[in-house]
Amino acid sequence: MIEFKKVSKVYDDFVAVDDLNLKFNDGEFICFIGTSGSGKTTSMRMINRMEEPSSGQILIDNEDIMDKNPVELRRRIGYVIQQIGLMPHMTVYENITLVPKLLKWPEEKKRERAEKLIRRVDLPLEFLDRYPQELSGGQQQRIGVIRALAADQDIILMDEPFGALDPITRDALQELVKHLQSEMGRTVIFVTHDMDEAIKLADRIVIMQKGKVVQFDTPDNILANPANQFVEDFIGEDRLLQARPSLQTVDQIMIKDPVSVTPGKTLQEAIKLMRNRKVDTLYVTDDSGVLKGIVDLEDFDRNRRRATSVGDVMSPEVYFVRTGTLLRDTVQRILKRGFKSIPVVDEKDRLIGLVTRSSLAEIVYDNIWGDMDDAKDIPLETTAVSEDQ
Ligand SMILES: Nc1ncnc2c1ncn2[C@@H]1O[C@H](COP(=O)(O)OP(=O)(O)O)[C@@H](O)[C@H]1O
Ligand SMILES: [Mg+2]
Repeated sequence: MIEFKKVSKVYDDFVAVDDLNLKFNDGEFICFIGTSGSGKTTSMRMINRMEEPSSGQILIDNEDIMDKNPVELRRRIGYVIQQIGLMPHMTVYENITLVPKLLKWPEEKKRERAEKLIRRVDLPLEFLDRYPQELSGGQQQRIGVIRALAADQDIILMDEPFGALDPITRDALQELVKHLQSEMGRTVIFVTHDMDEAIKLADRIVIMQKGKVVQFDTPDNILANPANQFVEDFIGEDRLLQARPSLQTVDQIMIKDPVSVTPGKTLQEAIKLMRNRKVDTLYVTDDSGVLKGIVDLEDFDRNRRRATSVGDVMSPEVYFVRTGTLLRDTVQRILKRGFKSIPVVDEKDRLIGLVTRSSLAEIVYDNIWGDMDDAKDIPLETTAVSEDQ
């Protein structure tokens, strides 16, 4: 277990790390994330005393690291900096066993470990005797990852190791490192500025801003309850919406510019429009687009003899939702009341879109179902729904 107790790091009078209080469990994958200069690297480097706290304590298994021999400490703790570069003049074997050699492992143990690891990443044993440049870029990267895990170090510090890689290689190496880490039961402290990377890898994420921890929790909890605006911005709207589909708004699924008609149009014109656009309902809007009512084929039928204009037959009562309304609420309204669709209006009551029952049904099945306690009781037929407005 690693514990930060009131840890601060001050350079001259600049506070780089400010009162950190954190506890990491054995075998956890921890990501530090934050903008550049937020103190991630400094926090991590204090764990093996590459930097020393100005105040506070760091405990590993309840022992203050300041009471330990720094060399001993660093042997127990692996450290991987940017890009995991291999040594070009050393064979793959020598690269993998770099740290075990420093730790004076016997030859047999080193060989055994190297062979086990290279099999783990699906590379042939012969590769151990090759030089890095004889391997493809991707193969070299895999060797880099297993080298980081080769010595029996319980704790591994990684500072943006995949920062410079292309997305596909990066993705593959993230999978690999996560897999090996949990399989081998290592505690990994991993610095990144990439939220996708943190969400993918971390059991828990430490989010830092200006030297302070603003949130420390699991990816799920952070996505569900960002501590403040900074965290929300950092996570990004897209990711929040993905994580929390119930936060999607009607604007995201609405059909834009639904078929509409002005009240002054004749019934013949309206019917023609319906036929052309293959709809059975028209929304009635005034010249500035403000929603005034709704007409459907039945209204025309009932009023065929006396009415002359759309305005005469429309129903002025229309259920609508305003732009920005959460889908979650709209779902309830549409499904429970049996609406086929609901118009969406802007702040000035102008018609801007239409949420249809069928587009909602898809969302409900895909996402929201589990979030809605009573959703299971709502029938979801998408045809022959009567309008009860
Ligand atoms: N040796 C140093 N002397 C003075 N300031 C430093 C030193 N190391 C880091 N800093 C400052 O401390 C802050 C945090 O740095 P760092 O931990 O490297 O941030 P991060 O890894 O989050 O980008 C930065 O503002 C940086 O300029
Ligand atoms: Mg850094």
